[in-house]
Amino acid sequence: MSADLAITNGTIVDADGIRRADLRIENGVVVEVGEKLDGDTVIDADGLVVSPGFVDLHTHLREPGDEEAETIQTGSRGAALGGFTACVVMPNTNPAIDSLAVVQQVLDAASDALCEIVPAAAMTIARAGEQLAPMAELVRAGVRIFTDDGTGLQNARLMRTALEYAGGLNHLTDGFDVVLAQHCEVESLAAGGVMHEGEWSSVLGMPGQPAEAEELMVMRDIALARLTGGRVHFQHVSTRGSVSMIRAAKEAGLAITAEATTHHFTLDHSACQTYDPAFKVHPPLRTEDDIAAVKVGLLDGTIDAIATDHAPHTRQAKERPFLSAPPGMLGLETAFAVANTELGADIEQLVRLLSVNPAYIAGIDDRHGGRIEAGRPANLTVLDLDEEWTVTGAAMASRSTNTPYEGRTVRGRVRHTFWNGDHVVDMGEATR
Ligand code: DOR
Repeated sequence: MSADLAITNGTIVDADGIRRADLRIENGVVVEVGEKLDGDTVIDADGLVVSPGFVDLHTHLREPGDEEAETIQTGSRGAALGGFTACVVMPNTNPAIDSLAVVQQVLDAASDALCEIVPAAAMTIARAGEQLAPMAELVRAGVRIFTDDGTGLQNARLMRTALEYAGGLNHLTDGFDVVLAQHCEVESLAAGGVMHEGEWSSVLGMPGQPAEAEELMVMRDIALARLTGGRVHFQHVSTRGSVSMIRAAKEAGLAITAEATTHHFTLDHSACQTYDPAFKVHPPLRTEDDIAAVKVGLLDGTIDAIATDHAPHTRQAKERPFLSAPPGMLGLETAFAVANTELGADIEQLVRLLSVNPAYIAGIDDRHGGRIEAGRPANLTVLDLDEEWTVTGAAMASRSTNTPYEGRTVRGRVRHTFWNGDHVVDMGEATR
């Protein structure tokens, strides 16, 4: 019999709620949940939470093409340290993930990853917004989420066609509705804008992107979801108006979902007064009022998931002036602690937002999220909700250091992560 491992005295928080129980893992699978369990190795989780591993719906790992900023290996190590057992990786790589060959390249590169790498594919070839990617072929290869993230699909007719086409692919997915994830940004309004258009962009004299650049596309895609019955997922929702429209559309019964990033509910546009490109991101940091609305949206279920939009950029790129530096922030290693510190959610809500709901949206809830019960793959994280620590970009596993939380003290630490039973994070350290 192979060696087994028991996690004892912990508080299990999963899709079923909270309970005190021990669990035993053998051959990568949870084999028993109960009282007074023992194993060849025992982890005492007294005072700690045991949750299904987190699932990030929005990760940029830069491979292929920009490996000097991040690789699948370094990014997945950061993910594991952040409690994630699966990352949906964005296709704005170089080349874009828009063909079977590049999907296979990503999966090959993931062979030494510390979490499951789930490739999202581009909606359009080369993310150019002109011609649909070979969606059926990509769905046959296992892709469930399509997105041109980094930009939104500008052409409403093509978006309609993509939704209609995706709606016809259920026979390839056992009935799972293929998801079109949209980065909502109307280019003609946002172009040239490097931060939110408002009080601070006026003070700083920097070109802004109005909230309406996001909201018009949210409005359009809600209309197209209604027209086609298609499955739209709204990425990194950042404005009060977007949250309101998504809430109303859900109340009207549309099968849409949404995510918000940690930075969009913790940082506002005044951060840009430092001219530090660490605070440059798309969509941009918004107002206090937008932050309040995003938080309410997360807490009342309008927004289904917390995503990281982990977007590593080399030091050299982020040392350029604010106007020309690339947008994006690290997120994987801080998401749980930042949310635990600032959202005002209880641990059941956090587990829903970071694990249960995103696993469901990505169609990987057979192995992530869900319940901790015998027979499920051991994709787990063990959390200390109270430990305080200070964020330091240079100490992260990521190849890049562009965290917007440098020097901030946060509460909540990932002690252990298990991916298919593999103990990838042990006492807060990656094991490989
Ligand atoms: O700030 C961003 N950075 N927003 C995006 O949508 C893309 C991302 C990136 O890839 O760097």
